[in-house]
Parts: sequence; C-alpha cells; structure tokens
Amino acid sequence: MAPTSAAERTSRIPNFFRMSIAERITALHERGLLNEDDVRALAQGEHTLPLRVADKMIENVVGVFGLPLGFALNFLINGRDYVVPLVVEEPSIVAGLSGAARMARLSGGYEASSTDPILIGQVQAVDIDDPKQAMQNLLAHKDEILNLANSLHPKMVARGGGAQDVEVHLHHAPEDGRDMVVLHLLVDTRNAMGANLVNSMCEGIASLVETITGGKVFLRILSNLTDRAISRAQVRIPTKNLEGKGFSGKAVRDGIILANDLATVDPYRAATHNKGIMNGIDAIAIATGNDWRAVEAAAHAYAARSGRYRALTRWYKNDAGDLVGEIEVPMKVGTVGGALETNQSVRINHRLLGSPNAPDLAAIMAAVGLAQNFAALRALSTDGIQQNHMTLHARSVASTAGVPEALFDAVVDSLVESGEIKVWKAKEIARTLSRRHIEPTAAERSSACGKVILLGEHAVVYGRPALAVPIPLAVEASVRKGGGDGIDLVIPRWGLEQKIRDAESGGLSGVLFSILQQLGIATEDMTIEVIPHIPRAMGLGGSAANAVAILRALEHTFSLGLTDAKINELAFQCETAAHGTPSGIDNTIATYGIPLRYQRIDDEPRFEEITERGEVPLVIGITGKESLTATTVANVRRAWESHQSRYDGIFDQIGQLTEAAVEALKTGHLNELGELMNLCQGYLNALQLSTPELEELIHIARRHGALGAKLTGGGGGGSMVALCPDNQQAVAGAMRQAGYQTVILGDAG
Ligand code: MEV
Repeated sequence: MAPTSAAERTSRIPNFFRMSIAERITALHERGLLNEDDVRALAQGEHTLPLRVADKMIENVVGVFGLPLGFALNFLINGRDYVVPLVVEEPSIVAGLSGAARMARLSGGYEASSTDPILIGQVQAVDIDDPKQAMQNLLAHKDEILNLANSLHPKMVARGGGAQDVEVHLHHAPEDGRDMVVLHLLVDTRNAMGANLVNSMCEGIASLVETITGGKVFLRILSNLTDRAISRAQVRIPTKNLEGKGFSGKAVRDGIILANDLATVDPYRAATHNKGIMNGIDAIAIATGNDWRAVEAAAHAYAARSGRYRALTRWYKNDAGDLVGEIEVPMKVGTVGGALETNQSVRINHRLLGSPNAPDLAAIMAAVGLAQNFAALRALSTDGIQQNHMTLHARSVASTAGVPEALFDAVVDSLVESGEIKVWKAKEIARTLSRRHIEPTAAERSSACGKVILLGEHAVVYGRPALAVPIPLAVEASVRKGGGDGIDLVIPRWGLEQKIRDAESGGLSGVLFSILQQLGIATEDMTIEVIPHIPRAMGLGGSAANAVAILRALEHTFSLGLTDAKINELAFQCETAAHGTPSGIDNTIATYGIPLRYQRIDDEPRFEEITERGEVPLVIGITGKESLTATTVANVRRAWESHQSRYDGIFDQIGQLTEAAVEALKTGHLNELGELMNLCQGYLNALQLSTPELEELIHIARRHGALGAKLTGGGGGGSMVALCPDNQQAVAGAMRQAGYQTVILGDAG
C-alpha cells in the first residue's frame, strides 16, 4: 500500500499493541510516519549503533548495550499529530503515555511552547580586590565580551544565535569566605544543545574577564540549570472523559489534584512525582540522542528553585470544573549534531517526530512529561500503579503461555484477579475458558491455511521439487452484509480499516475490488473482517490465506456457488497482483490445506498431494524481520548466472534431498526427514540465505532436541521450521524466551 501523504499523518493506530513488530512497522509506513529506509533499517535490525562507531564514542568499548525502543501513539500537540519514540526499560510507560494522550486528544490535546533556546555559560573569577567594582566593569564591557564570544563562533551568529547577554553574580566561598564573581554568558544555541560551543566561548573570554576584573579566572563551563530555556505544556480534560473503572470523573479529577497537592508541599512525594515525569522525558531524550543526565539535572534543580523541592506540574480545576494540568520545565535539547550523525535510530526517531527544531522538540518533551504525570496520578488515584503493572505482567505471561487471541483479554483479567500470574495458571484458565468459549461469530467465520516449506525453497525456482505443508487456521474472515456505506475491509490486528472502492488502489484492496466485480457483488454494502493468526511478510503464505479466507467468507454470505477450484483460481489472481509471478503453491495449500509436492515442469505447475502418516510435529520460529524474498531470489539468480554449473549442482542436491523428504514424509520416517532438513539448511547457507536471527533460532531448536531445523521460504529474515516430535513445547518455549514468536503445528503432545 502506498504511504499516505503527510497531511494524513495520524498518531491514532487502533490495536497497535496487539500487532507483531513487523506489523507495527508496516502500519507506521502505511501512514507515512516511516520512510522506506526507516522500514528497511528497522525490519533488518540495521538501525542499532554499529560496534565500530561505538568504539569511537567512548573509551574501552567492549560492546553495545540494548534497550527497548517503543512508540507512544495518540499525541496531539498544538493541533498536530505525533507518534513519540521512547527508549526505556520500565513497563507501562509507553502504554501509560498512549492512554493519557488518547484521553487528552478528546478535548483538543496539548498546548505546548518553548522560550528561545538559551544556554548559560559560567566564568568564575577570584582574587579580585574590589568585587563590586569588578561586576560593574564587566557589565560596562558587555558589548566587548559578547563580540569576543561571538567572533569565536561566527556560524552560530549567522544562524541567528550566539552570545546575547551578560549577567554578574557575587558569591562567598563557604570554606574561606573569599569573594567569587561569576559572569553568566547567555548564549542562544539555536538547534544545537550547545555544550561545546558555550564551553569554548567561556574559555575564549576568560583572559578578557581577568583583564576587566583584575582577578584570576578559575572555572569556565556551561550551567546545567538551564532556566533560560523553559518549555511549558497545558492540557484540559473535562470530567466526563475521566470517569471509568468504577470512579466518577469528578472523583478522578479531585484525586489527581490532591495527589499533586502533596507533591507541591512535600519533597518526599515531589521526588517520586517528578521521577514519574522524567520517565517520559528521559525516554524521549534518549530516543532523540539527547543528554538525558543534563535534562534530569536541569529539571531537579529547577524544581528546587524556590529553596524547597516541589512538583514540576500543577493540576487544578477551572471555572467549568474541568481538570487542567500544566508543566513548566527547563529543556535544553538539540536536534543537530552528536548522536543524530552517528546513530541511525536517532535519525529515524527525529523523522518520526517530523524533524522538529530544538524548541519544538523541547515543547513536545514537556507535553510528554505532563502526559506521563497524568497517567501516573490517574493510576495512583484509581486502581493504583501495582494493578497496572500486574496487568502488563499478566499480558506477557499470557503471551508466553500461547493463549489464543480470542481468549487473551479474558485470560489476562482472570490472571490478575487470581493473583497467581504464572504461565501454568494462564494455560489452566485458557483451557477452562476454551471449553466454555463460543465465539459469537464463529459460525460466520471462514478460514484458510498458511504454508510452510519443508524443503526445496529457491531450488524450486530452477525446476526442482519443493515440499510444503499447511498451517491450519492461519487466517479467519467473515463478511457482514449491510451498513449502507459501500465496502469496508477491516483487519483489526493490523489496525487497518479501509474502503474498497476501485481496482486502481493497489494492494489487497485493489485486487479485492476487481474480484468483487467479477463476482457481481461490487455494489453491495458489506464489511469484510479478516483475523490473521500468523504474522505477515514472514514467508508463511499469509497473503494467499487472506485471499482464500475472504473468498470463503463471501461464499458463505452471498452463496455465490464458488467451488474450491474457483476459490483457488481467484486466490491465484490475488497472489499475482501481490507478488508478480507466484508459483501457485501458497494459494493451493491455502485452499486445500494438504501437504504438497510441487514442481514446475516445462513451465507448467505440477502438484502432488502427499498423504502423510500422521501430522508433522513442527515448531515455526519467526524472526520478526521481513523476509526479503524478492531480493534473495534476485541474489541467487545473479550467482547462478555467473556460475551456472556450480549452482545447478547445489539445486540438484536440494532437489534430491526434497525427493527423499517426500518419501520420508509418506512413510513417517521423521528421523530421516529431520536429517534431510539439516542438510538442506547447509545448502541454503551456501546460498547465503540465512541471517543471525535464523541461525539463532535453528541453534535453539537443535539444542533443545529438534530432529531437524532450517530456514523456510525466501530467507534473509522471515521464519524457520523445526521438526520436533518429542519436545515441541520445550523448543517453542526456548524460542519465546529468546524473544521470538512461534507457531506450533501438528501438536504431538
Ligand atoms: C514509577 O516509575 C513512577 C511513579 O512512581 C510516579 C509517581 O508516583 O507519580 C508511578
């Protein structure tokens, strides 16, 4: 699908949290929030800091340390939509922010602003005979000092920044009582954070300061109390939007105000309150390559500016009774230089925010701090933070337990209620619920299979056989008539809601329209809902399964008389529109749900159904990185073109292994099948189709006793398949433990 124009940028993406990582990246791309390069980098994991670059950044480097990068949705700031990048290890921060922003946008979102980006440099002068006179002299020579400072950085002046003002302060040393005159140089550093620039200006004016004061200059360094670069944000939330979870809107409003009151008068509470604010601000500071220690130092010093440490926010009710929240916080950040040049993730994150200038980024960060404070105070004054943490923990446990989507929320609720948030408990609850569970629309749902290639990928392009087995129930779909507003396609897991209007629109929606025309139902009103149970772009035949499930659902609703053969033919049309020249294997397996031996002979596809002995007990490990099938097929072809006989030899070997695998499958010799899969992986490796993630998954599978393990499909990402008659759960569990999604097929136990 073509990315939407910038005008259609939205930060609302329904069900984003339910999507796989690859689906989230695609959803952001579809909305024009990530460009092609960003998608490629994220999908292939190339966005992280390369070791060789890290080695140049600090001393004694031994590695690169990982933290999760997540995106908070729903932000509306000064009337503009933002998806906010966050780097943070603590659960519930990203979800809390997205929830707070969703509520705020109902009443217009956040208003935020920043002052000019002024950074203060300090020059400390001592051993002065007459400090008061020295201070007057410094002020009298202000222009001379500013001119000297600016002559050191003419480019900053040309950009509209530079040293703008001078202030002077007198202090007495606590140890020996001697006088210290401190000159403050106020520098507008525009889009740079400005630390180096201000430090070098302070160094540069030091001897002039000595001449003017007759003293001796000691420290020359910026101040991290950046109280001349202030950002402010405000939000207004009507009480009706606050009600929920058994609490009236007024009770929530008053609870938030009371919680804030405590943080205003009590430094013990203020520290925790402000820590929560910095949960959001630090996370975006890191994601945008900013010095979060500087941002932290400024915030806490500013919070204590009255002489007593207090909250950075204020919550109160306005005349209409609405809850109003405000934050005022120093925010000296940069949008040029530094990490932006060395770290690709930082570049992606700036683009995601629409490449703001430094004051705008600072304003966004203030709004994020206010949103995080709201999320924390709302949770504290209603369910309590622990409850939210438990829910998140329960979600991750339910996912480890492989709870199906239809039961997921119910299992999570029961887990939290039981207080026993354990994988075994999740499985027990899921078993009990699934006995009771009757999906209201189950009878209306039609399904289709995905596929997994056991052996023969790539060689199949050169006329050798391939062996593939189905993934049952890979996709479900239903069609509801009526609605009176044309044809809607909804795929909630992908956050996709789309009108099907014409054949020109490209992608699934375009080809669907032309098929609906062929079937004579393109003018009907209907909603087509698709529920994929396998991730897309992972080489598991998801697109063909989508097409077949939709066609079956259309048949179910409109009684069109579509036979399986016709459905297969139409699904092939969809595959052609999606992939150019498909082999036909995906749509055939999606339709018939049977293991197949496939071979192209004299340009004609030949399918042989394999009646295997019992189900094949497989675990599919999903890398989460898009399989670049078109690229890998093209790379293999280039290699084959330059050394045909060498590569034909490899394809012959793969072909022979595949024939032997067909026999092994027919006769139920799983040990033999496993060995053939392992050998085949060797050849696929020789064709350079594997990736570190695929190798890790293969290694995990073999280490936990899989008989065979290999990549499946195009390679270069995507998925791998392991044959595990005795230990499916152990293999799948170890893969999930390592952070991968899995699918278990032909459950052996
Ligand atoms: C936890 O990281 C942050 C909170 O403690 C903040 C607060 O109490 O306001 C929840």
